Amino acid sequence: MAIPLRRNASALVGTAALLAGGGWLATGCSQDGPFSDTDLAMLQTFALVPLPADPSNGNADVVAAAKLGKQLYFDTRISGPLGPYDVGGTNGSLGNAGDTGKVGCVSCHDPQNGGSDHRSQPAATSLGAGYTSRNSPTVINAAYAPLWQFWDGRVDSLWSQALGPPEGVNECNGSRLAVAHLLADNYAAAYGGVFGPMPDLSDSTRFPATGKPGEPAFDNMLAGDQGIVNRIFANFGKAIEAYERRLVSPNFSPSPFDQFLAGKTDALSPEAIAGAKIFIGRGGCAECHRGPLFSDLSFHNIGAPQEGEHVPATDVGRYDGIAAVIANPFNRNGEFSDQKTNDHLMGLTAGDDDIGRFKTPSLRNVSLTPPYMHDGAYPDLWDVVNHYNFGGETGLYSGETDPAISPLLLSTADLDNLIEFLQSLQDGDPFPTADFPEGLTAAPPP
Ligand code: HEC
Ligand code: HEC
Repeated sequence: MAIPLRRNASALVGTAALLAGGGWLATGCSQDGPFSDTDLAMLQTFALVPLPADPSNGNADVVAAAKLGKQLYFDTRISGPLGPYDVGGTNGSLGNAGDTGKVGCVSCHDPQNGGSDHRSQPAATSLGAGYTSRNSPTVINAAYAPLWQFWDGRVDSLWSQALGPPEGVNECNGSRLAVAHLLADNYAAAYGGVFGPMPDLSDSTRFPATGKPGEPAFDNMLAGDQGIVNRIFANFGKAIEAYERRLVSPNFSPSPFDQFLAGKTDALSPEAIAGAKIFIGRGGCAECHRGPLFSDLSFHNIGAPQEGEHVPATDVGRYDGIAAVIANPFNRNGEFSDQKTNDHLMGLTAGDDDIGRFKTPSLRNVSLTPPYMHDGAYPDLWDVVNHYNFGGETGLYSGETDPAISPLLLSTADLDNLIEFLQSLQDGDPFPTADFPEGLTAAPPP
């Protein structure tokens, strides 16, 4: 089916409506009435399960680690200088070019606000020290992924994910040496309580103030001293993971959908029920958006267009992510992993099929995290369902789209219902927790 650009999509919606009016499409797909037993059994497969353990982080569920992690998550001092895009007061920038200490995890993943970025303009990508090339996904429920983090799965744990942004030139533009000093100078007691005594970093010849691999200040250090810094840096990630493991749906009051699964039959509107049927039926959505997270946690090419001001013209996604995770010294098989595992890396090689594949995002809380897709190409959920309805042939993507992506011939009312269902996946407020008297998602006391 050749429908080259998404501007043509409305024509297709019109055609689908016409066909439905003709009668045949309505057969066997009535949207009225309650769910069948088969539907209900299918819907139960989306029910939340307990969070899987992360054996690669021995402190993943230690309260003191989560408390330290929360402090670090909100600490903007992990960042180096802002770049030329940052002009105070414009585009949601966090300061002016040259300012340091402005960008923390919270800057692009505010847990009070859906866990993604609602600050940067244009909204498709994020403005840290520069513009990121992809959209900020939510951190809420990220802990459920047993392995892959980032849109391309270039890291295999939540703690090693947290080591990317501090040194990313467009995120925090800082360095592991600066992070290690920040911890030694401000968090030595809390760090010691979780990871053992903080090493002495006061000799500035051995431990320069800033530096990361690729920079002489770090590359010229003694291997043993580099190891000391790398260990502190890995523990920074492990503390943050311990906090992120609290940012999961069971710690928020349940979404209408979860209330429905728990037996509150009127928690879903008739429109949301109709949308749920399309989701698990004619829409084919559950083929990839399945399980407790509404994600198979795998990678697919759905033809999302590479469009937008700071979006690169091409992005091969998983194809590059595979080589990156194998080479990462902080992967689950490396010396900083608390329980080495290699099964997921063995035999992993990038093939042409991986070009343009991205991780299936969770759809829990999706209504809180516009814009959508790996590059934020779609401002709202209407654009997303429209994309699927015309079969995703935007033409502006790398590689080949997944065979599961083909025109759906859904009517406008069907698409509205699908959106209504997606909105029912939004959690309520976080439950109070004794570990964080200020609230799970609020900034920690200084
Ligand atoms: C300047 C904005 C920015 C900052 C600062 C930032 N992130 Fe992100 N984050 C992003 C973007 C953009 C992505 C997606 C990048 C990609 O996939 O290539 C991302 C991805 C993630 C993911 C992966 C989620 C998933 O489902 O794959 C997690 C978890 C995360 N960030 C946590 C953090 C933590 C922890 C910090 C602080 C150490 C942080 N981020 C700092 C923008 C930011
Ligand atoms: C072949 C697997 C597959 C199918 C089928 C599929 N999706 Fe997706 N979905 C994905 C992937 C992969 C992405 C991310 C793609 C990207 O960013 O390039 C995605 C992205 C999304 C997003 C954006 C979420 C975000 O946070 O950016 C929504 C919403 C969504 N899908 C809903 C649906 C609905 C509704 C259907 C059914 C009509 C559907 N999907 C069918 C794999 C699939």
